Amino acid sequence: MSRLARTQSIADLRALAKAKIPRMVFDYIDGGAEDEVTLRRSVSAYDDYELQWHALRDVAEIDLSTTIMGQNTPLPFLITPTAANRLFHPRHGELATARAAAKSDLIYSCSTIASQTVEVIAAANPGPKWVQVYVWNDRKIVEDFLIRAKEAGFTGCILTVDVPVAGKRERDPRNYFSVPPKISLPLIRQVLARPGWLADFLTSSSITAANFTEFETDQDIMGFIDSQFSKSVSWDDAAWIKDIWGDRFAVKGISRAEDAERCVEIGADAVWVSNHGGRQLDTSVPTIDLLPEIASAVAGRADIILDGGVRRGSHIAKALALGATGIAIGRAWLYGLGAGGEAGVARAIDILEDELRRTMALLGVTKIADLTPDLIRRRGTTP
Ligand SMILES: Cc1cc2nc3c(=O)[nH]c(=O)nc-3n(C[C@H](O)[C@H](O)[C@H](O)COP(=O)(O)O)c2cc1C
Repeated sequence: MSRLARTQSIADLRALAKAKIPRMVFDYIDGGAEDEVTLRRSVSAYDDYELQWHALRDVAEIDLSTTIMGQNTPLPFLITPTAANRLFHPRHGELATARAAAKSDLIYSCSTIASQTVEVIAAANPGPKWVQVYVWNDRKIVEDFLIRAKEAGFTGCILTVDVPVAGKRERDPRNYFSVPPKISLPLIRQVLARPGWLADFLTSSSITAANFTEFETDQDIMGFIDSQFSKSVSWDDAAWIKDIWGDRFAVKGISRAEDAERCVEIGADAVWVSNHGGRQLDTSVPTIDLLPEIASAVAGRADIILDGGVRRGSHIAKALALGATGIAIGRAWLYGLGAGGEAGVARAIDILEDELRRTMALLGVTKIADLTPDLIRRRGTTP
């Protein structure tokens, strides 16, 4: 049995990814901003929510299907957008994930700074797919990109709003990390130690922001973000993007109830609670802790998508029970991609599905709608 087939958890996939890809690339996935407090707490905060099951319930049939932003889906989780996937799997990158998602009929999201074009990704993924945008200094670029994505078959748009400037991710400059990676003297040892990745890297095309080849991307990714993306994005821009897109629309990177209200006011279909996986504002609040206040502000007027720190099926169950409509997973599948390409992403999806199914059976519930706050007790509190 292969090492990939023997992985039992997302933590196992992380360990395998670490063994397969060079340190600078692993750290780009794994790392967060500054002291990485939010990154760590976003995972550990789930432990503060303890579960109380119903005894003697019939759990022979469990149905994990639900609807997120009007999209029916067999599983309540989806692929969150992440940049430059060919770093983690130089040959296929986004295509590996898009294919794995399509095989499970999972909603796939593509980053603005994907390393494959929206047309090529759409050709690999006949399933439901959404596209993520940042607001560029030149607004026309956003408009043209959205037109292309729509023509390619993307049916949802995600506007990310937690990157007015790039977060301070200290692992990357320490590791001489750039996109595309330059194999300079200090990096030779770590890339030679990962021959599979190196062979793929050397024999496939250069890694770029494939949808925007007219831009100079031969710099570190944070420099690219800071030079091209607008620092003056406002709610008017959000409303404008929603209008030009004219289909399912989510605002990603919400951490306050009043901002969730603004999303509802501009007619967003989903409020996406996210701290960018702890990569932006360090010491910001773990998303699971934000959920009750945001769910109460939204009060059913829009869907709520949550991401951040999800590494277990039980994390998904807890977030759904506390008011999320759907859960987006990030590093969980990125570790799978680094560990084994398309098969690795499929393994991550299988692990989370199996864990969620098992958690629900142990809780005594059989449908996503049965995941309600009464199943959860905040550690240290009494009912
Ligand atoms: C390597 C990496 C690249 C990312 N790139 C993007 C991006 O291009 N656009 C975006 O909106 N979010 C991006 N994110 C944030 C994710 O969409 C998501 O918010 C985060 O990964 C969720 O946390 P988790 O990784 O703990 O699941 C990225 C995250 C990672 C780890």
